[in-house]
Amino acid sequence: MSSRNMNSENTNTAANTLSAAGTNTAGAAAGAGMQTASVANKTADKAARVASLKRRYSKYASSAGGGMRGPGPGGPGRRGRNAAQQPIAKGAMKDSGKTIRRIFGYLDEDKPKMLIAFACVLVSTVTNLAGSYMLRPIINTYIAPLDGSRGDAAGLFRSLLVMAAIYLAGVAANYLQARTMLNIAQNALQRIRDDLFTKMQELPVRFYDNNNNGDLMSRFTNDVDVLGQMLSNTLVQLFSGALSIIGTLALMIYTNIWLTLVTLLMMPLMLKAGGAVAMRSRKYFKSLQESLGAVNGYVEETVSGQKVVKVFCHEDVAKEEFNILNDDLRENQIKAQFFGGLMGPVMNCLSQVNYSLTAAIGGVLCVLRGFDIGGLTVFLNYSRQFSRPVNEISQQVSQVFSALAGAERVFAVMDEKPEPADDADAVALAPMQGHVILDHVYFGYNPDKTILKDISLYAKPGQKIAFVGSTGAGKTTITNLINRFYDIQSGTITIDGVDIKHLKMDNLRENIAMVLQDTHLFTGTVRENIRYGRLDATDEEVVQAAKTASAHSFIMRLPKGYDTELTGDGANLSQGQRQLLNIARAAISKAPILILDEATSSVDTRTERHIEHGMDRLMKDRTTFVIAHRLSTVRNANAIMVLEKGEIIERGDHDDLLAQKGRYYELYTGLSELD
Ligand SMILES: Nc1ncnc2c1ncn2[C@@H]1O[C@H](COP(=O)(O)OP(=O)(O)OP(=O)(O)O)[C@@H](O)[C@H]1O
Ligand SMILES: [Mg+2]
Repeated sequence: MSSRNMNSENTNTAANTLSAAGTNTAGAAAGAGMQTASVANKTADKAARVASLKRRYSKYASSAGGGMRGPGPGGPGRRGRNAAQQPIAKGAMKDSGKTIRRIFGYLDEDKPKMLIAFACVLVSTVTNLAGSYMLRPIINTYIAPLDGSRGDAAGLFRSLLVMAAIYLAGVAANYLQARTMLNIAQNALQRIRDDLFTKMQELPVRFYDNNNNGDLMSRFTNDVDVLGQMLSNTLVQLFSGALSIIGTLALMIYTNIWLTLVTLLMMPLMLKAGGAVAMRSRKYFKSLQESLGAVNGYVEETVSGQKVVKVFCHEDVAKEEFNILNDDLRENQIKAQFFGGLMGPVMNCLSQVNYSLTAAIGGVLCVLRGFDIGGLTVFLNYSRQFSRPVNEISQQVSQVFSALAGAERVFAVMDEKPEPADDADAVALAPMQGHVILDHVYFGYNPDKTILKDISLYAKPGQKIAFVGSTGAGKTTITNLINRFYDIQSGTITIDGVDIKHLKMDNLRENIAMVLQDTHLFTGTVRENIRYGRLDATDEEVVQAAKTASAHSFIMRLPKGYDTELTGDGANLSQGQRQLLNIARAAISKAPILILDEATSSVDTRTERHIEHGMDRLMKDRTTFVIAHRLSTVRNANAIMVLEKGEIIERGDHDDLLAQKGRYYELYTGLSELD
């Protein structure tokens, strides 16, 4: 794809154009050759590969169709307006009443505005009906008077003015209605997004372990989006559609009962035909949705993993797999859009039949039964108008279902259990000293699989406790328990003698500064990122923290120093530099407990020694937990805990442990063997 882009950019000179065209043709020919050769094989196992790829990648598809949505049959910009475009997601019917009530709950605050909007709908529908009905007296009195006299131009002009005024009022009401509904819908969406985001901030770490980020993002964007579509369009359309149907029907009966019967007899036929087309296309739209999700997922994964793709030269495989998915998407698009597009013409045709039939029978009635021309004219109008809302409502129904499905996905997140609230008698330690005691602690991420077994330790302020041990031994897990990312299954963890379960969560986390094993930086300047550790820190303190973390000198070499913007998790920094900023962010906090999880694993040994000097000052009077694979960095710890398979198998200071000639000795001297 990139070569094609380059080619199209190089079209300045004829030579370039020619060579570019040449390459393209050659490429295309070769591609075509390859394709023909392998077509037979491909068709054989294509279905299987499509199925397998779809199974793996369509998890990204949400009820609303994943991040990338294809234009609907109505073309781009009319997304979600066609009857069958959004398939009814499974479970959409599940307790819809409750979901609807909940959605309406978000509209509650704007009740007065809702009343205005619906009043406007009423006005616009009534004026529309009245305006078209006026044609009858106008024709019968001024154009072709029933008594056979000549028409009256002045009278005609006057009544046309009245008619225009009526229509104008309708247009104004319509405009007001659209603006008000837009306002109401956006207010509701804002509240929903607010609630969802607030909820996401309250959810425990465990929730994020178990849920796919892409899926969460899609709830936030796509699902909220479909819901918004429903609120701003569908509600009003359903209401005005229903009003129009009732009003039109009443006027039709009033105008001529026999012609009304003709239209009413045509209706079931139209509904049946429309339903049949919708059923077929719904089936294809469902497959389309899956294909779209798969393509989406594949692109997402390939983009984020592009480096790995390149490292392992998987470009060709990626292209081939993408082609398969893309092909499948194209086929499903064509089928779905064909049936989706069939709806309009079929309905149109039936509505024309209805029109002609009504006109013919109406004409006969005029000639034989003295039915007035004005009456026939308005009736023909109405019979056209009548099928429109019927169509519209049947189309909106599927929109409602997909919005409900989206709303359910949004509400599902909102109903997740948040982090447990503080106990009524929870205390706040101010100031916190930092005596941390773990007493016979047992823990497993799943209750039935214990990861940490019988962990006991005591750390005093000013002490440095190190955890060492092989990968997966449970070092990070211990630190995650101290700040209550997870709650322990048995045993106790106390800080200054208070069980952390009885501490206010904010108080606990405020007092623990942490450098996580996975670094993370936010979009913003270097200064803002460091200040994230303590928002009221002065500029001098930011610089001081950077110096402590040995980050100052590299920051000064950045184009704008402390004001350099970081983007995409610090993509413009080296891994070690990212770690130094994470350390500076922890260093700026005045928390009495400090946890460093592999904080310097990507930093060179010289810088690491540098940091140590700064850190020694930082750790003074604080309780520090350090995790490090590079044992040289933990040598000076007051106590070193050697963890193996979730148990502390050795403990003591560096010299003790070396003297024991156990696991630590093996790790330190490089004698350890992998089991
Ligand atoms: N979120 C999680 N859900 C379930 N199991 C987990 C989770 N995080 C870690 N584990 C499991 O817990 C065990 C301990 O993991 P932990 O992250 O504490 O190891 P570690 O000692 O920090 O290893 P490393 O040195 O690689 O960082 C591992 O076996 C891992 O599979
Ligand atoms: Mg770890």
